[in-house]
Amino acid sequence: MNSIFFEPLALKNKTVPNRFLAQAMEGNDGEKGGPSERTIDRYRELAKGGWGITVIEATSVWETSLARVNGLILNKKNLNSFKRLIDELRRRNSEGLVFIQLTHSGERSGKFSEIVTLTPGKAGPRYLSSDEIERIKDAFVEAALLAVEAGADGIDFKMCHGYFCGEMLRPANTRDDKWGGGLANRTRFFREALAEIKACLKDTAGFIMGSRVSMYEGIRGGCGTAGRDEIIEDLSEMLDVVRCMDDLGMDFVNVSAGIPALTGAITRPTESSKYLVYHQLRYAKTVKDMIQKEKRSLKVIGSAYSTFKEDAPVIMEEMLGKSYVDLCGFGRQIFADPLMPEKLRRGEKVHWCLLCSGCSKLMAAQMNDGCIIYNPYYREANRNFKA
Ligand SMILES: Cc1cc2nc3c(=O)[nH]c(=O)nc-3n(C[C@H](O)[C@H](O)[C@H](O)COP(=O)(O)O)c2cc1C
Repeated sequence: MNSIFFEPLALKNKTVPNRFLAQAMEGNDGEKGGPSERTIDRYRELAKGGWGITVIEATSVWETSLARVNGLILNKKNLNSFKRLIDELRRRNSEGLVFIQLTHSGERSGKFSEIVTLTPGKAGPRYLSSDEIERIKDAFVEAALLAVEAGADGIDFKMCHGYFCGEMLRPANTRDDKWGGGLANRTRFFREALAEIKACLKDTAGFIMGSRVSMYEGIRGGCGTAGRDEIIEDLSEMLDVVRCMDDLGMDFVNVSAGIPALTGAITRPTESSKYLVYHQLRYAKTVKDMIQKEKRSLKVIGSAYSTFKEDAPVIMEEMLGKSYVDLCGFGRQIFADPLMPEKLRRGEKVHWCLLCSGCSKLMAAQMNDGCIIYNPYYREANRNFKA
């Protein structure tokens, strides 16, 4: 197996033991917002795979912004169960780093939660006031500090896939208060939240912070367009967002694309849309080129490597070998075979994701979700599935 996969990577004052990153993947199996036994079992299995970084799935900063009915929530009440989850991960993968992805689902929240929006005049979701946005920011800060207490190495401040912080960034956010309009206002939320988190961290200055972004959302006025009425891809503004992350002293950017609920083929291509994955490779390279050219230090994580199935190692080798990314992120593959990195290291047979969309289908139906091909529990759930 190519040794480049197992080259360590310095990240802040820590070392990532290899270049495999387990992306945030919602399993929708929490219990009252805390990780359940099933959640812990899933991550325990993943830990055996020896991933360089494991990102704990989208975890809400408060109770009324959930996209999944059994989604995770990081609050004081659930702190001990998060501590236990992280302990279990460390026990089986002592060298790998653990991040928690913090989110607010905004207009992508489920009906059982509260669907809110930033854009005035939209029918349906409740329009958030400026003060409410301030409170959401407080909740991100509080959750980040709880992530430190839970023992995580870092956080992924989720700004991708059309959730609250992604909606905030896009040109179509035309709010006329300090949260909308020009890019300085649209980046205010994460700039201020990050500054506040940093100010509170003090003696935990080694805590790693980064963000996952959708470089192009594929909607009019979305991230990766040049204005509220534009649909054509233009990455200039999103590159400025990445520059801003670097200026703030963030440590990584996880490059993704699309909005799963609206333009899902962009985020997670399937067999019939698999060539869309090359856009994601290009986005990661474009970001890395800018970082290298401007001598910036953010590390770049690429996404959607499951799409390549058994060719993933070849693509990984090329992307890492040419320094187009620092880490390669796998989503659906972590469900198909949580042991993948360790199996590749040992030269063992890997169960490759078949891009069947079974996990997405279960998730959309608000069921526990996982791999319906290789995992008997989800195979059975799929058999009993009624759309
Ligand atoms: C069932 C499911 C759950 C997901 N959960 C998350 C999540 O919690 N956070 C996130 O940023 N992306 C999430 N994603 C997106 C994946 O992390 C990843 O970007 C996408 O599947 C494409 O990568 P892949 O080709 O390696 O699967 C999810 C995708 C699926 C299919």
